[in-house]
Order: sequence, then structure tokens, then C-alpha cells
Amino acid sequence: MLLTLDDVHTYYGKSYILQGVSLEVNKREIVALLGRNGVGKTTTLNTIIGFVKPRTGKISLDGVDITAMQAFRIGRLKIAYVPQGRHLFPKMTVLENLKTGMIHTSRSGALDRVFELFPNIRGKLNQKAGSLSGGEQQAVAISRAILKEPDILMLDEPTTGLMPLFVASLQEIIAKLNAEGMTILLVEERVPFALALADRVYFMVKGRVEHTATREELQGRKDIFVRYLGIEV
Ligand SMILES: Nc1ncnc2c1ncn2[C@@H]1O[C@H](COP(=O)(O)OP(=O)(O)O)[C@@H](O)[C@H]1O
Ligand SMILES: [Mg+2]
Repeated sequence: MLLTLDDVHTYYGKSYILQGVSLEVNKREIVALLGRNGVGKTTTLNTIIGFVKPRTGKISLDGVDITAMQAFRIGRLKIAYVPQGRHLFPKMTVLENLKTGMIHTSRSGALDRVFELFPNIRGKLNQKAGSLSGGEQQAVAISRAILKEPDILMLDEPTTGLMPLFVASLQEIIAKLNAEGMTILLVEERVPFALALADRVYFMVKGRVEHTATREELQGRKDIFVRYLGIEV
């Protein structure tokens, strides 16, 4: 087990948000976390990475208890996070943005690997990140995250605002990273995108994980999507 959340309860001030989240991500798995708006998917990722601390429960990463670890220490471990909305530094160049992901890596080959995955980035290194298209910004955000060569990559709604062509290429890139050994925890609103990639899916409802199923178990089970997401897929 690479990542485990065991009965995690998280508050924002007095707001009780995660009300007992338990989930597991195995090495080399792609796991999708699905649920309606506001159920706590982003809060789950923020809790894992340490931006917000759980009041009770336990989080382990590769056998290490990270529940009480400060965010900057978790940031040094082999976990990377591409947050919702990408959070690039818009006035910094693409290269400067990428360098913020290289603080914990000295391997020169890491940048070449990024150029292999996202060939268009190479020609834009000196452009301001804020001047790029949504798809290009997502490419930079993912590049920055994988430059630290994480074992596990967490992506929050990576397809939001992307044109269909970029969505298709992003799907290929995530599949490729996974084929090369990276474990992925994906929060996604586009169900077909998530299902094309995920080995396993967790469904969240109101601060809790209510159901898990493998991709095979979800074949032909429209009822599950209606029940937990309220949508027809
Ligand atoms: N910083 C915050 N302070 C207070 N409440 C928040 C904060 N961020 C999110 N929330 C609330 O927590 C709940 C879960 O939000 P979130 O984790 O962003 O859901 P999701 O990602 O599933 O849409 C929502 O009700 C949201 O309004
Ligand atoms: Mg969210």
C-alpha cells in the first residue's frame, strides 16, 4: 500500500468537512476520487499533502505516518500535487515555474523527460506562464510536479477548462506516466476521462467515502453513477 487514509476527519475552522474518509492507493494503481461538487474531494487531497491537518484519523505514505507532519516536510517526500486551478506563478517564465519543482531533484534527465512528455514546452521556456493557453498551463503544472520524480502524483480536476484535444493528450500522458511506474490519485469531474484511466474508483458523498469499485465492476452499472453522482454516464 502506497497511500492509506484511515478514518480521517478534517475541519475548516468549525466546519466539519471530512467526516471519516478511508481510502487506499496501491503502488502503480490509478485511483479516481469522484463525487459531486462540495463533497470534500479537494479537501481530501489538501489533507493528504498537509495543507490542512486532520483532527483525527491516520494518513500513511509508503509506510510512514505523515498525519502530523508539516506540509513542507511532506513536500520533500515522493508525493506531488497538481492543485485545482494549477497555481502557476503567472508573471514568472515557464522555466522559472519549472525550477520551483526542481528544488528536490538534481537529476538533469528529469527536465528531458518533461520535454519528451510535453514537447511544446521546450519552445516556451522564456514565456510568462500567465500568457499560455489553459492546456499549456496544465502541461507546465504537471511538468513542475513530475520534475521531483514522485512515486505518487495527485491531480485535482486536471481537465477543467481544457479543449477536447488537450483532454485526449492529457489522458495519454497520465497513462504513460503510470505505465512508467507512477501511482496516480485523480480527482475528476469528467467521468469518461476518469474511467478511461482508473483501475479503481472511490465515490465520495458529503465528506465520506461511500463506495469503491474496480473499473470492471463498474461496467454496465449506470445505477452507481446515478446514485453517487446524480448523473447518467
Ligand atoms: N478554505 C475553506 N474554508 C471553509 N470551508 C471550505 C474551504 N474550502 C472548502 N470548504 C468547504 O468544504 C466543503 C468541501 O469542499 P471541497 O473539498 O473543495 O469539495 P470538492 O472538491 O469535492 O468540490 C465545501 O462545502 C466547501 O464549501
Ligand atoms: Mg474540488
